[in-house]
Amino acid sequence: MSHWLIAGASRGIGLELARQLALRGERVTASVRSEAGRAALQTALGGKGRVLVFDTRDEAQIRAAAASVTEPVDVLIANAGAYGPERQNALDMDFDGVLDLFNVNTLGPLRVAQAFLPLVKQSANPRIVMMSSVLGSMTLEGTFNAGYRASKAALNKFTQCLADDLRPEGVAVVAMHPGWVRTDMGGPNATLSVEESVEGIIRVAEGLTLSGTRRYVDYRGNEIDW
Ligand SMILES: NC(=O)c1ccc[n+]([C@@H]2O[C@H](COP(=O)([O-])OP(=O)(O)OC[C@H]3O[C@@H](n4cnc5c(N)ncnc54)[C@H](OP(=O)(O)O)[C@@H]3O)[C@@H](O)[C@H]2O)c1
Repeated sequence: MSHWLIAGASRGIGLELARQLALRGERVTASVRSEAGRAALQTALGGKGRVLVFDTRDEAQIRAAAASVTEPVDVLIANAGAYGPERQNALDMDFDGVLDLFNVNTLGPLRVAQAFLPLVKQSANPRIVMMSSVLGSMTLEGTFNAGYRASKAALNKFTQCLADDLRPEGVAVVAMHPGWVRTDMGGPNATLSVEESVEGIIRVAEGLTLSGTRRYVDYRGNEIDW
């Protein structure tokens, strides 16, 4: 049994991660940022696990939540993310909206990783999964939703840096693409059910070792070009 920390578990992939992990008897600590989210997560956890409350844009909130956790964290999944405003392309942008998107998608996962790092370092097999997207790949063509793509590309760079910084400490760090998943974000036409994506994410995270650090992988463990 491992202790998993999931940031952003009120719905979608994060909620399903909490549900599947609790069902398997893993120890789960997961976060939400609203009362509606708390209710959904508590139902998914089935009375097991622990709920934290923070917005990933709020460093003080995250640090206070982290200070309330005493158990080492074996796997941290920085999952919370947003798709951003309607106008987010290179030729037409809601700049304030895209700035907020970077706050959530690029800096949010780092805030979470930094705040929980002391607990991660206490694990015998410490792993960090930064939830990215294939849309962050610099080799992928296409311009729609440029703000989202750029926010995940920047997250990927921070993920590489975090992996390099933490390799000497024995912490494995990867950027993860969950597939195109039928959630509020992925929409109804996405190719994967949330159950299938999450089964894969858990499998990849479980098998992660230091030899696999600094990789950009999908939910099947297949490598993606940065
Ligand atoms: N679905 C896909 O096809 C797909 C593909 C590639 C990558 N991803 C990535 O996978 C992750 C999860 O996506 P999803 O499809 O599950 O999305 P989702 O259904 O829209 O859920 C997003 C989750 O992130 C939380 N969140 C958003 N902003 C937050 C903030 N500022 N502070 C704390 N929590 C926040 C949401 O909480 P609230 O309920 O409080 O808003 C919710 O729990 C994201 O990082 C996304 O970019 C998804």
